[in-house]
Formats: sequence, C-alpha cells, structure tokens
Amino acid sequence: MIRVRFVSADGERVTEVEAPVGSRLLDVAQASGQPLEGTCEGAMACSTCHVIVDAEDFGKLPRASEPEEDMLDFAAAATRHSRLSCQIWLDETLESLTVRIPGSVRNMQGR
Ligand code: FES
Repeated sequence: MIRVRFVSADGERVTEVEAPVGSRLLDVAQASGQPLEGTCEGAMACSTCHVIVDAEDFGKLPRASEPEEDMLDFAAAATRHSRLSCQIWLDETLESLTVRIPGSVRNMQGR
C-alpha cells in the first residue's frame, strides 16, 4: 500500500488515502470521492481525469505519452505539472504522491 493525497481545488481540503501498489490513480481518486469524471475510462478521449501533480512528485512519474500530451491540451486549467490520472499507475516510488483536483473538471462553464 502507498499513501496518496488529494488536495481540493481551493487547497482547503486534503484527503489522504491508502491504495494498493499497482492501482490506477483515477480509480483511487474515484473510490475516495474525488470529483474526477474520467468519462472515457482511460481511452484518452476525454481529459476529465486531469490532475495537477505536486511539483516534487511530478519528476517521479514516467513521461507522458504523446497521446496523453495531446489530450492534456484540452484539459481545463492545465499547468506544466498536469497529468491524466487514468495514465498513472501507483508504484512504491510514488509514496505520498500529492495531486490537486482542478476546480473546473465537472463543468467547464463553472455551473
Ligand atoms: S479518463 Fe478519459 S482521458 Fe483519462
């Protein structure tokens, strides 16, 4: 098991969960009630699973694939530390991984 921290868009709430090594970050996020839709379930056809990875943790992740980079171009509020949570599998090197949930994931019009 490794610990993962989900930080709310406003930074006010931190949810810390334990997840089995080998889990997909999107699944862990959804199981803990994070507001990530993940509409295409990992087919890289949405970007509603977008998270912003803590700057220190970002370097521990394998590079994003070209299709992931392309899909991130469509993610609302993307930053240079953005990743698709459906493309992140948890391993021991990611202990205490911290990601922020972008505020506009559910509704890009803010409603
Ligand atoms: S779930 Fe659609 S791109 Fe990740």
